Amino acid sequence: MLIRGGRLIDPPAGIDALLDVRVSNVVVEIGEHLAPQAGEETLNASGAIVAPGFIDMHVHLRDPGQSHKETIETGTEAAVRGGFTAVACMANTSPALDNAAAVNALRREASARARCRVYPIAALTRERAGKEPCEYRALSKAGAVAFSDDGDHVADVRVLARAAELASAVRAPIVSHCDRDTELESDLGVAQTSGKAWHVAHVATKRSAELLRAARARGVRVTGEVTAHHLCCVADSAEARALGSAARVNPALGAEEDARALRDAVRDGTIEIFASDHAPHTFAEKSEGAPGFSGLEVAVGAYAAAIDDLPLARFVSCLSSAPAARLSVEGGTLVVGSRADVTIFCDEPWRVDAKRFTSLGKTTPFDGTTLPRRVAATIVGGEIRYRA
Ligand code: DOR
Repeated sequence: MLIRGGRLIDPPAGIDALLDVRVSNVVVEIGEHLAPQAGEETLNASGAIVAPGFIDMHVHLRDPGQSHKETIETGTEAAVRGGFTAVACMANTSPALDNAAAVNALRREASARARCRVYPIAALTRERAGKEPCEYRALSKAGAVAFSDDGDHVADVRVLARAAELASAVRAPIVSHCDRDTELESDLGVAQTSGKAWHVAHVATKRSAELLRAARARGVRVTGEVTAHHLCCVADSAEARALGSAARVNPALGAEEDARALRDAVRDGTIEIFASDHAPHTFAEKSEGAPGFSGLEVAVGAYAAAIDDLPLARFVSCLSSAPAARLSVEGGTLVVGSRADVTIFCDEPWRVDAKRFTSLGKTTPFDGTTLPRRVAATIVGGEIRYRA
């Protein structure tokens, strides 16, 4: 297939130019005005950006055990509609992904049923109970790309320190879930002492952004991610009030000064990764206060709305190259020979109608709003999985 006329942005390769891209299951050729070959499919990308496939490193696919909230099919279809060619799925399933057999089973299910690539994140402690470390070597061998008790914070510092020590045998990072700044401060202490590769999920407050910035400045091996809702939405707002109990999310929405500080933390590179924390629940569960929003299908537009002055190369990096590097997975670039995972998007406003989401979770603070950027096509391994 020949992707023609688009503006190719490949941050690691330093490319930002009008270039055509020829793909099979890998990128075959990049050049100006490539001529279509006989029988070759062409995709017109003029007016659009052609980028390395977007990777959402924080997604709750709810499989196994919570298929009323989401399934591998619905979650990964929502992903490709949102421009994602890969997702990393969180371990707070029923049962938790805390052993190699569970990770293997999930990968088997995903290879049979998923619409995009799926990278499992395994639990950090057994049953996510915060008491006993898991077997990180076995989990890593089974394909876990990170370890996290996301949804809960590991409160016992000794357990976390022991987990970090054991997990130092493998490359996959530990991902902290902190609802409070004090929890983050404590986790960053363990990250520093252990030297383990670390990542902070959903940084949500001004203070957390400052803690992350300071830790990185003193050389702690830590990265951070931010959701679009924490960048855009505040607790004391008409949107949040309209959602009522459905506005609940962990970490909670903050104040305007938090959202502003998070946007600044993205601008100055303290936060390098955009991750949706796609956390689908049914309407009934949301009305009873289940925390979380459906994020995959609005992400591209919502992040563009959140920081409209972010250079496009940074926008692309936050959604592709940076998460690929963080998880040590393929992707994040479209140089010749790399996987043909491609996201094509354009700056065209569209109105969010959450009831039309493919995700079974239909709650988002962006419902009814107009977002400035949309996905035009999602290509996984050279195959078009979504086209607007
Ligand atoms: O709001 C949230 N929902 N935050 C989390 O960390 C977990 C997630 C969930 O699993 O529903």
